[in-house]
Amino acid sequence: MSPTDKAIFSPAAERPTDARGALGRFRRVREATLALAAPLSPEDQLAQSMPDASPTKWHLAHTTWFFETFLLTPHLANYRLFDPAFGYLFNSYYEAIGPRQPRPQRGLLTRPPLERVLAYRAHVDEAMGRLLAKGAPGELADLLNLGLAHEEQHQELILMDILHLFAQSPLKPAYAPAPALPVGRDPGPAGEVAFAGGLVEIGHQGGGFAFDNEGPRHKAYLEPYRLADRLVTNAEWLAFMADGGYARPELWLSEGWARVQAEAWEAPLYWERGPDGAWLAMTLQGRRALAPHAPVTHVSFYEADAFATWAGARLPTEAEWEAAAALVDVSGNFREQRQFGPAAARSQPGLRQMFGDVWEWTRSAYSPYPGFHPAAGAVGEYNGKFMVGQMVLRGGCCASPEGHVRASYRNFFYPHQRWMFSGVRLAWDED
Ligand code: AVJ
Ligand code: FE
Repeated sequence: MSPTDKAIFSPAAERPTDARGALGRFRRVREATLALAAPLSPEDQLAQSMPDASPTKWHLAHTTWFFETFLLTPHLANYRLFDPAFGYLFNSYYEAIGPRQPRPQRGLLTRPPLERVLAYRAHVDEAMGRLLAKGAPGELADLLNLGLAHEEQHQELILMDILHLFAQSPLKPAYAPAPALPVGRDPGPAGEVAFAGGLVEIGHQGGGFAFDNEGPRHKAYLEPYRLADRLVTNAEWLAFMADGGYARPELWLSEGWARVQAEAWEAPLYWERGPDGAWLAMTLQGRRALAPHAPVTHVSFYEADAFATWAGARLPTEAEWEAAAALVDVSGNFREQRQFGPAAARSQPGLRQMFGDVWEWTRSAYSPYPGFHPAAGAVGEYNGKFMVGQMVLRGGCCASPEGHVRASYRNFFYPHQRWMFSGVRLAWDED
């Protein structure tokens, strides 16, 4: 079988061939995006706080452009583009499609106004209604699943990016003026769960949607290992800081230590000292007292690795993580719980918090699995071309929609980035 014979993205078991299934799923995802944007003013939705982050308005338009470009234009007869100028504005990174607005300048797009982006969404939604009227057979199902998973990724990005934007504001606004995150109880010292290792299989098994980077499924050999039964907490991070964690080069990878110095890191992103010296953290609920028992979040790979070294541990590899995660349910603190922040672990035996709360940094570089080939054409640019210089994170977070992640899901970020909900689970060699 040649790479191009394969389905572009792994064929969905849940192929929405019936019209109501396909269209219903499409509408639910699209509505959820608008619901996330609803608490934000047009001004909130225009600003871009850094090159890595995008304005909400741009996310709303780009996800729409994705359906227009990859589903409507090739598959709906007589589809009329909403505005031919939008291709340049809302193409993110697809070289095969054409030139685009430079990423760091997405926040300069005062035009089109938000209203017109919403009209763009309505135009594309109406056309998708026609395209899916008879269901989504074959390739269309794969593209629809990709478009929906893509929009869900951008739902999470909207929350990450708004938190970063609001953190720059002296007013420290709350996105979700909900009660403070529950303080939670001291979970006690982390336990360790031992795994025999040996020959395991990782990668998507088929049955349901997966991104191309989750396959092919393949064997991996693991030495015996142990995983912490919960995530590292803020209280534990404070102990690392108090022990000179950010001031001891011997704990850090060379690149990480360079970052610590260049950016004067002395705590996770969004932490600051209050007037009485106690730590506060910016959250989607606004600026709050640091919750000691909640999982630490907004740490870079470099910080995660230094912490693990300090703790006499290491980060898990992605194969170790996945082999363990395949044994537990995909449940946890996802976006639907509306906590919009990681929550303290409950005291219960066994592996906790594998899914939801915070993305877990692994020690694995984001590289192709054996036998991986990106699909032909523009959609092949989705994941494959980013497979250099980034690290894999696993398990989803409090901003990920329920049902979006799975044991084989591979998220990826550069090792210095920390505006995601990223955290740490420790691992050890069995000895
Ligand atoms: C997997 C989160 C790194 O943010 O570029 C969005 C997700 N891919 N549109 C990113 C994504 C295409 C991706 N990350
Ligand atoms: Fe995108």
